[in-house]
Amino acid sequence: MTDHVFPESFVWGSATAAYQIEGAATEDGRGPSIWDTYSHTPGRTLNGDTGDVAADHYHRWPEDLGHIADLGLGAYRFSISWPRVQPGGAGPFNRAGLDFYSRLVDGLLERGVRPVATMYHWDLPQEREDAGGWASRDTALRFEEYAAGIVGALGDRVHTWTTLNEPWCSAYLGYASGVHAPGRTEPAAALAAVHHLNLAHGLAGRVVRELAPAAELSVTLNLHVVRPASDSAADHDAVRRIDALANRAFLGPMLDGAYPADLLADTAAVTDWSFVRDGDEKLIAVPLDVLGVNYYSSTLVRAWDGVSPRSDADGHGKSTATPWVAADDVDFLPQPGPYTAMGWNIDPAAFTELLLRLHHDHPGQPLMITENGAAFDDVVSADGTIQDDRRIDYLRRHIAAVAEARAQGADVRGYFVWSLLDNFEWGYGYDRRFGIIRVDYDTQVRTWKQSAHWYKQLAATGRLEQPTS
Ligand code: FCB
Repeated sequence: MTDHVFPESFVWGSATAAYQIEGAATEDGRGPSIWDTYSHTPGRTLNGDTGDVAADHYHRWPEDLGHIADLGLGAYRFSISWPRVQPGGAGPFNRAGLDFYSRLVDGLLERGVRPVATMYHWDLPQEREDAGGWASRDTALRFEEYAAGIVGALGDRVHTWTTLNEPWCSAYLGYASGVHAPGRTEPAAALAAVHHLNLAHGLAGRVVRELAPAAELSVTLNLHVVRPASDSAADHDAVRRIDALANRAFLGPMLDGAYPADLLADTAAVTDWSFVRDGDEKLIAVPLDVLGVNYYSSTLVRAWDGVSPRSDADGHGKSTATPWVAADDVDFLPQPGPYTAMGWNIDPAAFTELLLRLHHDHPGQPLMITENGAAFDDVVSADGTIQDDRRIDYLRRHIAAVAEARAQGADVRGYFVWSLLDNFEWGYGYDRRFGIIRVDYDTQVRTWKQSAHWYKQLAATGRLEQPTS
């Protein structure tokens, strides 16, 4: 097999998120977010880790931009912390917070790197949660105000505005299984959150169109590739149901302007969806310049037979409550390895399948890989180097999967590795390392792993060697 060569126009980037890297949780007027509250609640995160300091990026951003420039990347995906720029999530904006992101954006532009800004990567201001959180329609309306504030301040200096990161996680992990902030376990609230996040996307998307017409608009979804354990009709129906909750609950309104009828029927015992008002779905379907896709692993399901021991190996953390609202009779089966340190199975073929499905179902919709990467237990050698071959292998195989989808027609325009730096991995704290650059949390020293050197070479040449096996 020959090497894959990506065109020069293909964008190579890296991604991070505010709460995972910034630290400075109480500095310069930042207000508390649901993740501050959650991580400070005993028992919620591994080792009680919090994002108070994280990778100290709030102070070290010039050095971090230096790394991005040295890697030769064309784009950087970061997120704006809502409580840093608008501490209560309503009312006055915080000048110091806006200035921080303004300097960051200018710093990227000076280095020839496209700023790709996510408006919401999970850090809802605590005051908004106290007022009902994403279960409340008002949060979507406040999000529109927040969007107007940040787009007004940064405008089209930001190349791409991404409204939301993985609303699936915000809604279902935050409000149904409770393994993410705010840690609620209320299935009906989770479905209301799905809708209010979708609505927030539509409202903020329109703000971008009005205030920064030259900027690109996107949203990032963590779409699931769901496969049946057998060819039985019951297992295929389990796939359909999980696909509705995981994928079409977002793709439907965002790209087709309507919730899928089967989703509404499947969940009728939990809610009548009366929180969807006339005109909402049309509003949500704001045309996207690019659809952001995050992919890590695949999902295997079967219909529960009513007697076998239950299996909930969906990779989304342990909880007594399920994130899969109204799908209690679907089992998530463990999959064959190899696995990453998250316990997630490594399945690059599913990545190609996902991109081709999007190409097929939404022809003409440009795609961007906004996250892909792997946590492994990195070993620092005596000479200080980090030979993270398994991460390189993971990246190589997944980028080859993207190339394969492109060869079959999918319009994938770029790839952002998760992550630039080791960081606060939510419920897993600092225990799981996704960075291509290592962070020593005692000293905050950054060290390039071998994967960073490898990725630099790829970004420079666009040439991906084929995996050897
Ligand atoms: C995604 C999140 C990102 C990171 C990776 C590993 O779900 O968007 O913040 O935690 O997983």
